[in-house]
Parts: sequence; structure tokens; C-alpha cells
Amino acid sequence: MWSIIIVIILSVIAYFITDQLIPNLKDLFINAGLYGVDLCKNSKNKIPEALGVVSGCIFLVTSFTFIPIVFGNGLMDRESFPHNEFAELLAALLSICCMLLLGFADDVLDLRWRYKLLLPTVASLPLLVVYYVNFNSTTFVIPIPFREWLGASINIGFLYYIYMGMLAVFCTNAINILAGINGLEVGQSVIIAISVIVFDIIELRGDQYKAHTFSLHIMLPYLATALALLKHNWYPSKVFVGDTFCYVSGMTFAVVGILSHFSKTVLLFFLPQIINFLYSVPQLFHFVPCPRHRLPKYSAETDLLQASRTVIVKKDMTFLTKTIVQILRIIQLVDVKEDSDTIVMNNLTLINLFLIKFGPMPEVRLVIMLMLFQCLCSCIAFVIRYPMASYFYDT
Ligand code: UD1
Ligand code: MG
Repeated sequence: MWSIIIVIILSVIAYFITDQLIPNLKDLFINAGLYGVDLCKNSKNKIPEALGVVSGCIFLVTSFTFIPIVFGNGLMDRESFPHNEFAELLAALLSICCMLLLGFADDVLDLRWRYKLLLPTVASLPLLVVYYVNFNSTTFVIPIPFREWLGASINIGFLYYIYMGMLAVFCTNAINILAGINGLEVGQSVIIAISVIVFDIIELRGDQYKAHTFSLHIMLPYLATALALLKHNWYPSKVFVGDTFCYVSGMTFAVVGILSHFSKTVLLFFLPQIINFLYSVPQLFHFVPCPRHRLPKYSAETDLLQASRTVIVKKDMTFLTKTIVQILRIIQLVDVKEDSDTIVMNNLTLINLFLIKFGPMPEVRLVIMLMLFQCLCSCIAFVIRYPMASYFYDT
């Protein structure tokens, strides 16, 4: 338990260091050409981009400082040194570190989408190797209603490793595509992190307390550095977080989900990201044209955001595109304007969906609504995980 107290103290220090460093380093980023323009504002000021690299570095440094403090006792007594736990922590940090490097490369080089999918797969390899050596449990417990047909559990072998690799790809990219308004990337990550921490605290009394202590060791410094970043990224943003932050966050959640054996619960906390991803699929796979930016459209006259739109030329529409547009129309998930040659519909993101359902609104209200939705989804996740889980699993 004392290791958690140490990590809390280190995290508080990390918060203040990150909070100090971000404004001090802003100009350095602008001078290096790492800046963007806030597309939802009137002013065309340069806003430093990729400041997630600062919070990510402090997060990693805090975790590195923590290693000799927590494993110090073991170093004196080499016989009983917990090699397994040590390897887990190192692999976790290596995967996150890898993602920090690759995310920063993406911010600097603006990589293409196929590489964005490849990077987390490569970065998750150290994690999968440690999982193989330490646990190699590739068994899924079958929910009670399906046991009559499938048995109590099913061993999916190698497919389980593919599932874990895909989890890393999903978590990293899912945060990156639910983005574009001030504070959203960090805000959603902070709520997911708090949800994971609450879940860990509840489970500390259970027999999986070791796994949840491990998760807390990673999540607490992550949360502290993300909160400091949120302070500067909140509306009106003084810095942008960049893909670096999205990748580091996604990988951090994937790491704790995999190594602490609660990847399904982590996915429950990603409910808004899953909805956003499913809704985005037609654009991500180019069945519907996908512009470079799908963030909402800012109207200078009203100072409000409204849904941004994409144009589909009717004569270029395939059967699949027509079917997708028709289904979305029937279930009233798109706002479509049609003339003889073109169909103009909103870009398929959760942010735009909120705007078509609740009408144009100021940026800050939109981000608060999306944050509240994320909180609501976390509450739903806890209901599914606790009261409802007993209907599906022997808890
Ligand atoms: C993802 C989204 C893209 C969205 C972008 C916004 C997909 C497939 N990609 O692309 O639709 O437009 O994120 O981050 O869904 N920006 C703001 N305000 C903010 C945050 C960002 O105006 O609060 C703008 C700035 O110009 C900034 C740029 O977005 O420079 C960063 O975009 P980037 O992270 O490079 O976009 P992607 O992650 O590739
Ligand atoms: Mg991005």
C-alpha cells in the first residue's frame, strides 16, 4: 500500500512540474514550426502543437523515478527479486515510450493513416511478449446464457494476441478521431483515467489486488500529467496536445487493460469512442468522402459551432454508399441536403451528431456536453460491470 502513497506524492510533484513546463516551452515549439491554427476561432494566432510530448515525458520520468523506490527492497535481496513484476512494468513503460516517440514523429511528419494503424501494433509487441511469458492465458470466460452451447470458457490461442494488438490500435486511434474542439482529447482521457482509477480502488480489496496496484502505479502519474495539460488545453486553448498525447493515452489504457487483465472493462469506459468509431466507419473506409478535417464549422457572425459537412457527387455513388446514406437517413443519424447532382451531409463524428441533434452551440458548451456524455457512459460501464455482470458471469 505504501507504494501507492509514494506514487501519489510523485504524481502531485509531476502535476506541478508539467504545469510549469508547458507555458515555458511554448515558444520553443512555435520556433520549431510545431504549431497549428485554432479552426474554431476568429484569430489566426499560432498555437503550439504536440505539447502532449511534455506531459508524456514527465509521466515517463515519474514512472522511472518510481522504479528504484518501489523495487529498492528487492535489489538488496536478489534471491527474492520480483522479476515478473519488474518485467511487466518495464514492458509497459517501453510500449508507452515507443508510442510517445512514434506519436511525436506523426506530429512532425504528419504520417498517413495506414502508418497510424501500424505504429501502435509495433509498439504493443513488448507488451505482448511479456504477457506471453508471464501469463499466456488466452482463455475467454463465456457468459452464463451461452454456456449451454459453448462451455464455461473457450481458448482462442493466438487470436487472443491479435485481439490485444488490435486493442492498442483501437485505443490510440479512437481518442485521436474524437478530437478537434478545445479540451476534448485530454478531457475524455482524464475521465477514462479517473474511471479506471475508481475501478482499481474498488478492486483493491479483491483477490486481483496486485494487478490493480500495478494499474494504479501507471494511472496516477498519467492522470496528474494529463490534468496539468488539460489546464492549458481547456477552452480557449493556449496549447494543442497533438497526436503524441492521443497515442500515449491510448497505449496507457491498453497497457493497464492487458497487463491487469481487465481489457473488457477498459473497453466499457471507451463507449463514446466506440460509438464515434462505428459512426465514422463509412468515412474512415472511404465509402463516404472524408475531408482532412472533420471538426465542426465555426461561424464568426454567431460565434457558434455547427456541424461540418461533406459533399457526395451523386454520379460517383456506389451501391454501398447509397445504402449507407439511406440507412443513416432512416435512423435519423444524418442531416442531409440534396440537389439534383450532389448530396451534402454532416461529417460522421459524434461531435457533429451532437450539433445536429442539439443545434449550433458555443465551443465550450459542446465540449462540456461531450464530457458529461463520457461521464454518463462511465456510470453505465460501472452498472454493466457490477450489478449486471452477475447475470452473465459467476462473480
Ligand atoms: C483528427 C480527425 C480530424 C480532426 C482532427 C482535429 C479523423 C479521421 N481525423 O485528425 O477529422 O479534424 O483530428 O484534431 O477523424 N484543432 C483545432 N482545435 C482543437 C484541436 C485541434 O482547431 O481544439 C486543429 C488545429 O488546426 C490543429 C489540428 O486540428 O493544428 C490538429 O489536427 P491533427 O491532430 O493533426 O488531426 P488528425 O489527428 O490527423
Ligand atoms: Mg490528432
